[in-house]
Amino acid sequence: MCLSEGFPIKKIIPVKLGQRSYKIEYVESLEGIRDKVSPIKGKEFALIDSRLDAFHGKKLRKVFTNFEFLIVPSGERSKSFSVLEKIANTLVKKGATRHSRLYAIGGGVVGDLTGFLSGVFMRGIPFIQIPTTLLAMVDSSVGGKTAVNIATGKNLVGIFHQPQAVFIFPQFLETLPLRELLCGLSESLKTALIADKKLVSYLENFSYTQKERNLEFFTYLSAKCVEIKAAIVSKDEKEENIRAYLNFGHTLAHAIETKLEYKKLLHGEAVSIGQRFAALLSRRLGYLSNTDEIRIENLLAKYHLPRRLKNAFPKGIDPKTLVSLMRADKKNVQADIRFVLLQKLGKASLPQKVEEQELLASLKEFQTLAP
Ligand SMILES: NC(=O)c1ccc[n+]([C@@H]2O[C@H](COP(=O)([O-])OP(=O)(O)OC[C@H]3O[C@@H](n4cnc5c(N)ncnc54)[C@H](O)[C@@H]3O)[C@@H](O)[C@H]2O)c1
Repeated sequence: MCLSEGFPIKKIIPVKLGQRSYKIEYVESLEGIRDKVSPIKGKEFALIDSRLDAFHGKKLRKVFTNFEFLIVPSGERSKSFSVLEKIANTLVKKGATRHSRLYAIGGGVVGDLTGFLSGVFMRGIPFIQIPTTLLAMVDSSVGGKTAVNIATGKNLVGIFHQPQAVFIFPQFLETLPLRELLCGLSESLKTALIADKKLVSYLENFSYTQKERNLEFFTYLSAKCVEIKAAIVSKDEKEENIRAYLNFGHTLAHAIETKLEYKKLLHGEAVSIGQRFAALLSRRLGYLSNTDEIRIENLLAKYHLPRRLKNAFPKGIDPKTLVSLMRADKKNVQADIRFVLLQKLGKASLPQKVEEQELLASLKEFQTLAP
């Protein structure tokens, strides 16, 4: 596949963080990755998602002959201390040292787990991200947020640990289930909405069909989103400021996910509903025009993303329940409920406090939108 035909992209995108700088690089073959990584003294280990392994494991082993492959069971449950400890023990038994390097080959689950492990194994060894889901390509592989989940919540124990490099091989997307692809689309639309009006218009005009998996389109979209995220992270690595824009749609999404106990909806689906709500709230608070709110509605609809609370709670949900869950979110300052809002298409504002009365009224209005 030629990455650039009709969809020109920057094939190398820098994240500028002084000594921790690195590049996100698009490659057209697995050999392209092998030939680009600098050799190291120690042994190299690839943590690979089990489902991905079933599809691509053979090819990967043929190309990366010097890697020891460790299979990580597919699914969010692998982002746990027990899996982390098991892998750390295996690494030691197989000869990993301070001079070793890890590769994360999978989606956000393997990426977050491998990143965290490499940050703490022998007090820190390098790792390289090879994302294989659209969500990981546009979001989780860039920026160095790593974490595992604990009983009291998702991503509650983690560190910032930047990868040494990120390699994106879009052909992995050929085997990605459609629902997972949509989750990546949801995070991509988010990135466009917070930072790039031109990309919003492009997405509105692109003739998208769900049947055909247009890899050139997904390559282009991911490269645009990576450019945006890399620029944001380069300015605000630790989310003290503008990195928070990337949480657009996430305040309600987290409440939905907690209420559903992380079942039924995937993260990107909850984020899509959250974005629709944040658009409504942005209009109600006087930032976004009616027309722009409708454009967001239509954009999410065009990419077949869920946009109503009914998609999460077919039997209905009391707005008060959602408000109390939002109050408990870890991103809040004290008990304030804070939202990233849109000032206009392509421009977000830093999280701001929204009063409970306004939220309840907005959620009520949200529930009255036509299906
Ligand atoms: N670190 C960050 O900045 C950040 C940002 C967003 C999300 N996350 C985290 O990312 C995780 C979600 O990531 P995700 O959506 O990639 O989920 P995931 O890693 O669970 O992958 C989704 C599914 O796709 C399968 N899969 C992966 N690649 C495949 C391929 N090419 N072909 C076929 N199947 C494939 C996996 O086995 C899994 O079943 C969450 O844990 C979330 O907290 C982290």
